Amino acid sequence: MGKNVNKSKRSRRNFLKYFLGGSFAAFAFSVIYPVVKFLIPPKSSEPIPTSVMAGMVGELKSNSGKIFKFGNKPGILINTPQGELRAFTAICTHLDCTVQYREDFQHIWCACHNGHYNLNGINIAGPPPRPLTQYNVSLKEDQIFVSKVS
Ligand code: FES
Repeated sequence: MGKNVNKSKRSRRNFLKYFLGGSFAAFAFSVIYPVVKFLIPPKSSEPIPTSVMAGMVGELKSNSGKIFKFGNKPGILINTPQGELRAFTAICTHLDCTVQYREDFQHIWCACHNGHYNLNGINIAGPPPRPLTQYNVSLKEDQIFVSKVS
């Protein structure tokens, strides 16, 4: 009879041990999971396009530029002082700031650390280590399309 009481106490102790262990694991998971979900950004479900409409013909006067969205990244469309349309990624090759067109310089400029790129996207002054990636520009009626160079 004493054996049965000990056995019963032991199984109750085991139950409590597993129950509390499980509760602790659930608590730890409920704390850790949101932190891990916050730290790991979700994968973008937005597909990366190969071509986007960046503007309308006549929208940009010569010696000006505009930023457009190429998927989830910025691009820059330029109408050169000679009236030629060109497009590049607008992400500076130094530390990923968004570049802009400076009418007074007549070239692309990055405000973050005074980086300069010429109208071919070549880094010409400041800290940027590489040229900007150039895109193809094509016209379809009065729309300006930009696509990746394949
Ligand atoms: S991020 Fe553009 S010059 Fe530094």
